[in-house]
This record gives sequence, C-alpha cells and structure tokens, in this order.
Amino acid sequence: MDSGDKGNILLVDDEPNALKVLSAILREASYKTYQADCFDKAVEIVSLEDIDAVITDLKMPGKDGLHLFHRLKANNPDIPVIFLTAYGTVDSAVTAMTEGAFFYFIKPPDYVKLKAVLSRAVEQKRLRSEVADLRSRIESTYGFSSIIGKSPGMESIFRTVESIKDSSTNVLITGETGTGKELLARAIHYTSHRHYRPFVAVNCAALPHELLEAECFGYERGAFTGAVSRRVGKFEEADTGTLFLDEIGELGLPLQAKLLRAIQEKEIERIGGNRKIKIDVRLLASTNRDLSREIRSENFRTDLYYRLNVVQIKLPPLRDRRTDIPLLVTHFIDKFANRENKRVTSVSPEVMRVFLQHDWPGNIRELGNVIERAVVLVKGDVIGLRDIPAEIRKEAKVSGQAPEKLKPLKEIELEMINQALNTFRGNKSKAARALGITRKALYKRLENVK
Ligand SMILES: Nc1ncnc2c1ncn2[C@@H]1O[C@H](COP(=O)(O)OP(=O)(O)OP(=O)(O)O)[C@@H](O)[C@H]1O
Ligand SMILES: [Mg+2]
Repeated sequence: MDSGDKGNILLVDDEPNALKVLSAILREASYKTYQADCFDKAVEIVSLEDIDAVITDLKMPGKDGLHLFHRLKANNPDIPVIFLTAYGTVDSAVTAMTEGAFFYFIKPPDYVKLKAVLSRAVEQKRLRSEVADLRSRIESTYGFSSIIGKSPGMESIFRTVESIKDSSTNVLITGETGTGKELLARAIHYTSHRHYRPFVAVNCAALPHELLEAECFGYERGAFTGAVSRRVGKFEEADTGTLFLDEIGELGLPLQAKLLRAIQEKEIERIGGNRKIKIDVRLLASTNRDLSREIRSENFRTDLYYRLNVVQIKLPPLRDRRTDIPLLVTHFIDKFANRENKRVTSVSPEVMRVFLQHDWPGNIRELGNVIERAVVLVKGDVIGLRDIPAEIRKEAKVSGQAPEKLKPLKEIELEMINQALNTFRGNKSKAARALGITRKALYKRLENVK
C-alpha cells in the first residue's frame, strides 16, 4: 500500500518526541501525517491542507488542545478531533466529547485501538464531505443557481421565493409553457426546510382520470381488477416533503373534490381502503391555463383554487424579459457544449439579434432547444445564422425589413458590441472574436462612442 493513501492526519503536540513516535506509527499504517507543535501552526496546516482528522495533545503551553478543538468546531466542523490526554486532564477530554470531539485516549494510548478509532474518524469525515458535495450538486442542479435570470421580473420572483421558502404555504405557479414552472417548483422545494425530504411530482395531464386517482391516492390489493398488490400513492410518497401537482388545470372535477378533501383534512384514503392515513405535504401546483376563466366556465372549483393559490408566482414569458436572453444563451451554450464535448463559445451578433427579436412562444424551453440543435450542428466555435431553424431566421428578416425599424449603422454597431460584451461577461477578446474584428478595433469603436 502506498504511504499516505488512508488519509491526511494532523498531529499536534508540544513534545517533539511524542510527535515523532506517533507519526512513525501512523505512516507505517499508510497515513500521511502533518506535525504541529502549537495551536497557530495547527491552524495554519488545516487551512492549507486537506486534513481528514486531527489527533491533539490536550495540554499544551499557550492555546491548548481544547482551544484547537473549539476553533475547528467553528471553522471546520467536519474534521474529527481525537484527544490524547494525561490522567489529570481526563475531565476536560470527557467534556470535549460531549461537545462533539470524536474520541480521547489516555497517554500512552493503545496504538492498535487508536488506529481503529482513527480509521472510523477518517471514514466519517469522508462521508460528510461526500454528503456536502452532493448537497451542493443538488443545489446547483435544482436550487436557485439553476434558474437563470437577472431581469426585474425574475428578481422579484427570487425575492418572493426567499420570503416563503421556510413556510409550508401552498404555492400556485402560473406561466406559459416552457417558462420554467417545474424548475421553479424544484427550486422552492430544495431551498425549503423540507429539502432533505422527498419531492414528488404528479403530472395531472398525463393520465386519464382513474389512473390519476390511483397514482395520487394509491390503492389496496383487490380494489379493482388489476390491483394485484397494494400500492402507495404519491401523497403518501411525498409525506413530510413536497407534492408538485403539475398542470393542475387539467384535473377533472371529481378528482378536484377528492384533492380538496385531502388538503382540508390532511389525510387520505387509499382506493378500496377503509383507513384514513395522515399526511403532511406542502403542495405546489402549476398551470399554464387561466384558472379564473376555468372557474367562470365551471371547470375548476373556486374553493380548491383558494386552497392552492395561497401565494401565486407568475413566471413572465421570455418575450417580456428579453434582457435575460444573452444570459440564457450563454448558459445553454455552456451546458450543451459541455455535453457534446465541443468548443462552442458564442452566437454571432446576427444570431443574437434574431434571438432578441423572436417572440419565443415556447419560451425558455424553445430557446434551449434551438441552442441544443445549433451546438450539435455548428462547425466552428461560433453559432451562425445557418445553424438556427429557418422559421426563426425568417421571422426576424420580415420584421427587420420594416422601414421604421431602420437605425443608423453606428447605433446598430454599438448595440451589437454591447450585446457581445454582455454575452461574454465583459471579456473583450472573446467579444471581438465573435464580432469578427480585432481587439484593437473593438477598443477603437468603444473609444469613439465616449
Ligand atoms: N430561468 C431558467 N434558467 C435556466 N433554464 C430554464 C429556466 N427556465 C426554464 N428553463 C429550462 O427550460 C425547460 C422548460 O422548463 P420547465 O419544464 O420548468 O417549464 P414549464 O413551465 O414547466 O413548461 P410546461 O408548461 O410546458 O410544462 C427546462 O429544460 C428548464 O430547465
Ligand atoms: Mg411543466
């Protein structure tokens, strides 16, 4: 076994000999060791190295092992601390254990036992790091950082979500198709205090009435032909977590009644069952329909609407927040270029102009699809007009021909430069390359407008 592959251990003791002995024993057992003879040195090593566990002497001149433990608890709570202590100071070590220290040994320690404890400590540290890593990955996939947008409309949505994230109020998310309703629902769940509980989605448009009822509420064995075994429904699955009712506007009236009862009574009954089951779910619902119109035409129950619509978040269509387009373009290029393993960096200014003019009836999903296709098709590293679908190109040309839309060339040029700078987050070299001019030429043009 290579030395050092079992973990990085920091040894702290003011006694050089003690350090030497312990270090030799642990190196022999394939650990990599670091040595510190005082508090300051120990803190420095922890900040520089990826330490898996600390073994520290309790009594040291100046700041002692307990100081070190408290410091680590505050700044590096994942690093397990093991104390070595003399008889006289056992009490402090025991107190430290109650505060979360990993273990203590009375000097001289039984090295076999010490190694066994150390190996558990290192394992705990690694598991914790893994969990933290997963958390941050979930946060970047489902959390707010996955929702791109700096337009005033989106900023106000972020503020609303921030203010409701720790309550369990029901939220109705409305918006046209492709505006990010599901993405937002997940983000609400993964930033709420229910984030470590299940997030369960039901698409109310995907199933016919009977199946949907079984899907939501579950059934007992023999409840109907084909119910060969018991099945737990989505409500139960989502217990203590979040249930996302997607496309709630498609729900038929009988199921609306049943849903309302479940919300009011906070309990459900499986189909064919005779037992009430308590459930605690936060409900998020989404729709791209105008529910008040559905209510007027008696397709949707008013009482259910009020239950779901405690807070409403309206996602604006993309055409109403065009300033987000360059950001989204960069986001999707990164995403798909990464997946395709291609070096695509940007769209050409003409393409950006077309994108800014297009009405995006399919909203962000449509933009994402257009860029996905373009990234696959493009030959070089800049997406050009020929890489985007003809319908979108054509539409832009038509509106571009209207005489009132003509602008002085200088103005258009400046617009394009600003767009390019935006797209590349101010990186002038990249912007110049995308615009097909040299960096110097770009500077000159920027100079001229001052
Ligand atoms: N603000 C955003 N930033 C990044 N990606 C987004 C954003 N909004 C939506 N998307 C992406 O666009 C696609 C469509 O989003 P989503 O499925 O959440 O839309 P929806 O409103 O639920 O649509 P539908 O009504 O058709 O079900 C997804 O791939 C999503 O990741
Ligand atoms: Mg959806």
